[in-house]
Amino acid sequence: MCGIIGVVGETNSTQAVDVLLSGLKALEYRGYDSAGMFVAGPEGGLVKAVGEIVNLEEEVTSKGEAFAGPSGIAHTRWATHGEPTVENAHPHTDMTEQLHIVHNGIIENYQSLKEGLSAQGMQFSTRTDTEVLAKLIGAHYEGDLLKAVRSALTMVRGAYGLAAMHAAHPDEIVVARLGSPIVIGVAEDAHYVASDSSALLPYTKRMVYLDDGDVAHLTATSYHVATLEGTARELAPETIEGDTEAVQKGGFEHFMLKEIMEGPQVVRDTLRGRLLSDNAKLGGLEPLLPEITSLKRLTIAACGTACLAGHTARYWLEEYAGIPVEVELASEYRYKTNWPEKNHALLAITQSGETADTLAAVREAKELGMLTLGVVNVVGSTIARETDAGVYNHAGPEVAVASTKAFISQLVVLALITMLVGRESKHLSRVQSAELVDALTALPKAIETVLKTAEQVKAVAEKYAQYEHMMFIGRHSHAPIAAEGALKLKEISYIHAEAYAAGELKHGPIALLDENFPVLALAPHDSVYEKTVSNIEEVKARKAPLIVVVNKGDTEAARLADDVIEVPKVHPLLQPIISVIPLHLFAYYVGTKKGFNVDRPRNLAKSVTVE
Ligand code: F6R
Repeated sequence: MCGIIGVVGETNSTQAVDVLLSGLKALEYRGYDSAGMFVAGPEGGLVKAVGEIVNLEEEVTSKGEAFAGPSGIAHTRWATHGEPTVENAHPHTDMTEQLHIVHNGIIENYQSLKEGLSAQGMQFSTRTDTEVLAKLIGAHYEGDLLKAVRSALTMVRGAYGLAAMHAAHPDEIVVARLGSPIVIGVAEDAHYVASDSSALLPYTKRMVYLDDGDVAHLTATSYHVATLEGTARELAPETIEGDTEAVQKGGFEHFMLKEIMEGPQVVRDTLRGRLLSDNAKLGGLEPLLPEITSLKRLTIAACGTACLAGHTARYWLEEYAGIPVEVELASEYRYKTNWPEKNHALLAITQSGETADTLAAVREAKELGMLTLGVVNVVGSTIARETDAGVYNHAGPEVAVASTKAFISQLVVLALITMLVGRESKHLSRVQSAELVDALTALPKAIETVLKTAEQVKAVAEKYAQYEHMMFIGRHSHAPIAAEGALKLKEISYIHAEAYAAGELKHGPIALLDENFPVLALAPHDSVYEKTVSNIEEVKARKAPLIVVVNKGDTEAARLADDVIEVPKVHPLLQPIISVIPLHLFAYYVGTKKGFNVDRPRNLAKSVTVE
């Protein structure tokens, strides 16, 4: 939510504009309401534009080559306080217009700070919390930027990832972190700052991840990290994997389609080195294995799509690993009364590893004395670092705002955890787990088969793009998959979509159905197939247009449907991973048919770092 990028280079370099623009493009998934940059030095200045980064790029280009400098900071915004306008775009400045800041997060006490500053005669041109922060730092500035940032931040309540520059010190950037991610990139002749390491990969792989409460001072040749109180912290750079290619579209029209199509490779990457002949090998969990296998209860906490991965895995963990599981919306978890027990852990599932609600759930569980585990995609992210143990997805960077490939990899990791715990606790026999290993090994091929039906799914999607409503149904572990199909459709096509466990239809929602309310039913050949077919009959009787997703060769459910999408039959535990792929494709093709920018749905941002 909001993206920050900054660079401080040698005085004779002119790289800042290119670094800032390319960094903003890499971070655009974090917000795209407006953007801006400050380039230090005599040929620099402040430029802002509303809308996507290309609009800022046009503004910058119109200034010609004379607009250049070695250092600068930039920001892409997802509006919290104040509408997306040029005035509200970052960087914000102090009263002298010499100090510039970019900020990700929310300053909770900005109103009272603003009143205090107004009483000192300061005027504000926006209603944003960031302008208040800029003016507050300005009020503390007496010639030392680091000192000013530090003393201003002692007065602030809320969350920030922050980068500040002052025209009087064009060769310095001061950054600070509390609740919103900040990573420093270390290179020979420059230092960088960003909200996410992927934006820095073209320049360096050596990253320093700040912790909450850290403040850092960067020059072209040095970085120093200390706590807000000034105690020095030795944070050595970590070398990360990854390449810039992974964040390019690679010939696809949208990142979302590219990421859906990456499914087979994502599964291979997630499984790499983690399959034994009859068990899973998860190095991150090994040290805690005795504790994990004796769990009496597991709470899964996550948001959105990640939470639906948790709901799906709940069926697996209960059936194959013998652990009672409850799944909580992370945004609600810490506001309810929780009753931790002995041998009770919390498992956070998150692609970004930065989702504020999920992080708050992890912290709440820690305070309650629970073991905390994570299934996280972004290496080095806050939740990956704050949980006691965990498993990385290895899905690679997910750029499209709507999560697809991360969901697939979350399910694969959760299947591995199910197998590991089930095997250790003897709920899963050696023969059963060997079967599961074979099924996981064959999964990429099965996904390839589903992806070959993309054109057929496209034809179905285009037929249904004109409807205003849609219902998704499924039973058992396919109920959360129906919910994922509905979430994805509303998110990128703005069609009102609902999801119900199929058996629930008759308890209310069936009243909605008529010839204008299509239903997509998931009816794989599983233990509840016949019940699902009965529910499909109920839908048919209400004349709702009907799409079914069934296993190849199905006749019963298929004969009732207007449109049929066939998927291969795989191991029952893995079937949801196969069934969700046509739903991701369906949402993608409805969204593109309606002409929307599916990679950047309105009002959304990829990494939700505000509560
Ligand atoms: C939906 C989607 C969101 C995220 C949710 C959690 O397509 O992407 O619902 O799943 O915001 O994000 P992470 O996984 O980063 O915690």
